[in-house]
Amino acid sequence: MARYAHIIGWGKAIPRRVMTNDDWAKLVDTSDEWIRSRTGVRERHIVSEGESTLTLALEAARNALEVARLSPAYLDLIIVATVTPEYQFPATACLLQDRLGASRAAAFDLSAGCSGFIYGVSLASDAIRIGSYQYALVVGAETLSRIMDWQDRATCVLFGDGAGAVVLAASQVPGGVMSHMLGADGSGADYLIMLGGGSRHPTTHETVEQRMHYIKMNGREVFKFATRAMDRATRLVCERANVPLEDVELVVPHQANDRIIQSAAKSLGLPDSAFYVNLDRYGNTSAASIPIALCEVLEKGLVHRRDHVVLVGFGAGLTWGALLLQWETPFPTVPLKWWQRLYNAIYYRWAQLRSWLARLRRRVEGWQSRENGGNGEPRKVPPPSHGETTAPSTARPGAARDEGAKVPEISPTADERASHPEESPTRARGANQEGS
Ligand code: UT7
Repeated sequence: MARYAHIIGWGKAIPRRVMTNDDWAKLVDTSDEWIRSRTGVRERHIVSEGESTLTLALEAARNALEVARLSPAYLDLIIVATVTPEYQFPATACLLQDRLGASRAAAFDLSAGCSGFIYGVSLASDAIRIGSYQYALVVGAETLSRIMDWQDRATCVLFGDGAGAVVLAASQVPGGVMSHMLGADGSGADYLIMLGGGSRHPTTHETVEQRMHYIKMNGREVFKFATRAMDRATRLVCERANVPLEDVELVVPHQANDRIIQSAAKSLGLPDSAFYVNLDRYGNTSAASIPIALCEVLEKGLVHRRDHVVLVGFGAGLTWGALLLQWETPFPTVPLKWWQRLYNAIYYRWAQLRSWLARLRRRVEGWQSRENGGNGEPRKVPPPSHGETTAPSTARPGAARDEGAKVPEISPTADERASHPEESPTRARGANQEGS
C-alpha cells in the first residue's frame, strides 16, 4: 500500500531581542535606507545571553509536537539543519533528542547552508515513504549572530537568529511531500564560507586575529546563483509532481533578499503575491528561514486543503533545493487542553530527570571501574535506554494504549469517507492526545 509523508505539526522560536536597521547604523557605516532598498530587511531578532541554537530548536520542536499532538516518545528520527550548531560535535540533534525525551529517535545534524531544511524534509519524507520511519522531526535552527562579523557591514546587516520545525508522519492518504529536488555545486564554496575552526584552519590566535571565524560572502555572486537556482528548482519539482506551475497556490522561498524573490517570481511568471515574504522582520535566518515562514503561513491560514505549496531555497555549499507539498492536514488545529499542557510539562521534566540519571549512572560506573583497577570482570551491559531502532518498527512507545493504529493517517473529508467507505483513517495521535 502506498505511503505518503505529511506535515502534521509546525512551530517556530524567535528570540525576543530585536535589532533594527537604525541600531546597526549606530555600529557600522550603513543606513536604514541602504539595507531596506538592497535587501528588504527592516529588523531581525538576535539571541541574548543564555539562548543558543539548541534552546531555539527545542522551543520550535516542542511547538511543532504540540500542533501535531504527538509525544516526543513516538519520534523515530530527528534532523537539525544548521550551520551554527551548539558545538562542533556532538550533533545538536542529539542534544535536542535528549532534551525532548525522544528516547527512540535517531538524530543527526545536516549542513547544507540555507537549503538545509529542504534537504532535511526531503530525506525524512523519503525515509517515511519507504517505510523506514513513522514520525520524523525536522528542525532548521540558527544563531548567525554568533558567527557574523559585527564590523563587516556587507554581511552583518543581513542575518538574524531563529528556528522553525515540522513533524512529518506516515499516512496512506495521498498528498504531503509530492516531489523534491536537491542540488549542490562545491565549485562555489568560496562564495559563502566560514574559513576558521575546521580541519583546514584549526583555531589559533592567528585565525582569530584574521577574523576567520566569521561569515565571508561574495554577495553579488550568491545573488546571481540564487535567482537561477530558485527558478530551476521550482520548475523541476512541479514537473516531477506533474503539477503545472500555475496550479501552485503559494511559494515559500528562502528569505535572503526581496530582490531575489521578486526576480524569481518574474522569471517563473508567477505574481509577487504568490510568494510569502517575512524577511523584513527576521532578515536571513539561513536554515531556519523556510520553516519559520512556513509556520507563519500556516498560522495565518494562508494554506487550504489541496493547495500546492512549493518550498525553495539556496545557500552555502553552494546548495539548492525545492519540494512540492499538496496540503492535506486539516485546519484549524485544536489547542491543547490545560491538562494536556500539564502532561507535556511533566513529560519534559521527566526527560530531564532521566537524562540526569543516565549521566549519574555513567559516573558511578566509571567510578566503579576505576575502583576495580579498570580491568575487572566485564560489566553487564544494561538494556538500552534509548531506542536504537534500525528498521521500520511497528512497536511504538505506549503501544498498549493505541493498539490497532498501524499507519496513522490524516483525517479525510466527509466526501472522501463517502467515496472510500473501506478506509477509516484516523489522525496520527500521540500519548498526549489520548482522551482529548
Ligand atoms: O542565504 C544565502 C546567502 N546570501 C544571499 O542570498 C545574499 C545574496 N546577495 C545579496 O543579497 C546582495 O548581493 C547584498 C544585499 C549582499 C549586497 O547587495 P548588492 O546590491 O549586491 O551590493 P554590493 O555588494 O554590490 O555593494 C554595493 C555597494 C558597495 O560599495 P561600492 O563598492 O559600490 O562603493 C558596498 O561597499 O554597497 C556597499 N555596501 C553597503 N553600504 C551601506 C555593502 N554593504 C553595505 C551596507 N551599507 N550595509
